[in-house]
Amino acid sequence: MLQDKITQYTAEIDAFATTNADELEQFRIKFLGTKGIIKDIFEEFKSVSTEEKRTLGKVLNEFKQLAEAKYQSLKEQEETSHSKKDAGLDLTLPGAGFEVGSRHPLALVRREIVDIFSKLGFVVAEGPEIEDDWHNFSALNFPEEHPARDMQDTFFIKKGGEKGDIALRTHTSSVQVRMMEAGKPPFRALMPGRVYRNEAISARAHCFFHQVEGLYVDENVSFADLKQTLFYFVQELYGEGTKVRFRPSYFPFTEPSAEMDISCTICKGAGCQLCKYSGWVEILGCGMVDPNVLENCGVDSKKYSGFAFGMGIERIANLKFEIKDLRLFSENDARFLKQYKTSLI
Ligand code: DAH
Repeated sequence: MLQDKITQYTAEIDAFATTNADELEQFRIKFLGTKGIIKDIFEEFKSVSTEEKRTLGKVLNEFKQLAEAKYQSLKEQEETSHSKKDAGLDLTLPGAGFEVGSRHPLALVRREIVDIFSKLGFVVAEGPEIEDDWHNFSALNFPEEHPARDMQDTFFIKKGGEKGDIALRTHTSSVQVRMMEAGKPPFRALMPGRVYRNEAISARAHCFFHQVEGLYVDENVSFADLKQTLFYFVQELYGEGTKVRFRPSYFPFTEPSAEMDISCTICKGAGCQLCKYSGWVEILGCGMVDPNVLENCGVDSKKYSGFAFGMGIERIANLKFEIKDLRLFSENDARFLKQYKTSLI
């Protein structure tokens, strides 16, 4: 009997469940295929009595819809389970995590320098990158015809402002002037910032770089204080046992002036390419603030004395990380920057 067959197959369809693509295809062929059960049943239906047709017609249509609906819903389940597998979704695995950014190596080094000096009571001060002649040169005792004022070195922006030509600052020493003009001694500050010089860009020179300026002005500050402060700094930055030496030098704004070398961080003094086989590398310029500078900034040079120093952050970073090409610092190549991961966030 056709009705019995339909009842039996309906039960079979209801009970059927799979997300396996092959089993599902077997199901489709068995019931919905061109030689499948539904086709057969419809064939059989043609030969039943007219009376039976009336009742069975509806049953038959419902049966066909049931098979189709079952197939569709299993097919959808099979497809979603398949795509989940493709995406490698395994909820028992640990999360994928996300990449933390990294600090720029120059920012890391600046922070380290600031941290060391802050233990000695130095505060951080900043000044403008666009400066006038007075703050960048004149107040710092640069003679009128000094070559550093030359167009070769300085990016001039405007001629003849109230305090002289306007330019991009060539060093952070300008911030010393601003600090002393604005306050009263004692001054004990560290002044990090970007500076600009009109140089052709190469591995060893850039038109902008970074410096940290230091200034300490009080009663009875001596060269011994300068030496001790910088010695402490070097031990903290490069490790105990790093040697220092001071060589006489010249800067318009300090008298006496010196350049400070440290024993080579790479070869520890034995001689290598970095220190050009001398065992020493220069890291900063320093000296006792010239009394003219103190007076230019409104500080009584009879009562107060002080020391100052200035160093290039790129230089310090090179010695720490052995970065040989200055251009890397400003190219923003993520492959370069990512190397300097830090726990300091
Ligand atoms: N301003 C100097 C430069 O750009 C660095 C410097 C040297 C700063 C000696 C100082 C100092 O404060 O005392 O090369």
